[in-house]
Amino acid sequence: MASSNFFLLTALFALVATQAMASDHNPLQDFCVADKASPVRVNGFTCKDAKDVNADDFFLAANLDKPMDTTKAGSNATLINVMKLAGLNTLGISMARIDYAPQGENPPHTHPRATEILTVLEGSLYVGFVTSN
Ligand SMILES: *[C@@H]1O[C@H](CO)[C@@H](O)[C@H](O)[C@H]1NC(C)=O
Repeated sequence: MASSNFFLLTALFALVATQAMASDHNPLQDFCVADKASPVRVNGFTCKDAKDVNADDFFLAANLDKPMDTTKAGSNATLINVMKLAGLNTLGISMARIDYAPQGENPPHTHPRATEILTVLEGSLYVGFVTSN
């Protein structure tokens, strides 16, 4: 009897142990506005003192509605990331508008651990990706 209980318990443990949970851990704070003046570099920028955070840290008057000049390089990327909007620090959020000239291209680049969603408003766009192996 004891050996069958042991077998059942082992089988149950084996089934439960095969369930894997994979996700990013929850951030330790609601926001971490980038302190770009700090000489300390961690995985991103260190947090500005919460007492010094204000609405401007979360606002950017970007001209994402305006087409950019594509004559030089065939494309022109307008990026909104932590370098332009300090409040995005550690949130894993960024945004870009890319204007393409006809036959224009955006050079190969990487987005480690990022998700990318493309919306083509006019024309067509060929997009590819390279896997790590
Ligand atoms: C992108 O467009 C802006 C505004 O039209 C221009 O100032 C800038 O030089 C362009 N950048 C490139 C790489 O063509």
